[in-house]
Amino acid sequence: MIYVTRRETFCSSHRLCNTNLSEEENDQLFGKCNNLNGHGHNYVLEVTVAGKPDPKTGYVVDLKLLKNIIIENVIDKVDHRNLNLDVDFLKNVIPTTENLAVGIWGQLADKIPSGKLTSVKLYETENNYIEYKGE
Ligand code: NI
Repeated sequence: MIYVTRRETFCSSHRLCNTNLSEEENDQLFGKCNNLNGHGHNYVLEVTVAGKPDPKTGYVVDLKLLKNIIIENVIDKVDHRNLNLDVDFLKNVIPTTENLAVGIWGQLADKIPSGKLTSVKLYETENNYIEYKGE
């Protein structure tokens, strides 16, 4: 099995808040991330597709196609947006890196032209990242 990865970056703002909880509980749970007017991150996204090379092209997946699919279905929807308000696939979830990775998976899983989506890795900071492998 061969694993092919495309990396993209985007910038978004968000506020971590559970609307079912009190201000005090949210403050205790999320601290600075609960700041009323939000804060921003420079996210790094790595999307990995696995498969065997096509004998005709030698590709598992054409990276130009994969890039365009990621940009159209993810980057254009989240870059320079507020993740709490602007993103259709994040409606009614707390926009943590975990939930964002799951949402990104949902945007991409059925659109991969060849091979199989195996990982969505999302860095929120240089030191913190989430990896989602589906299910
Ligand atoms: Ni944050």
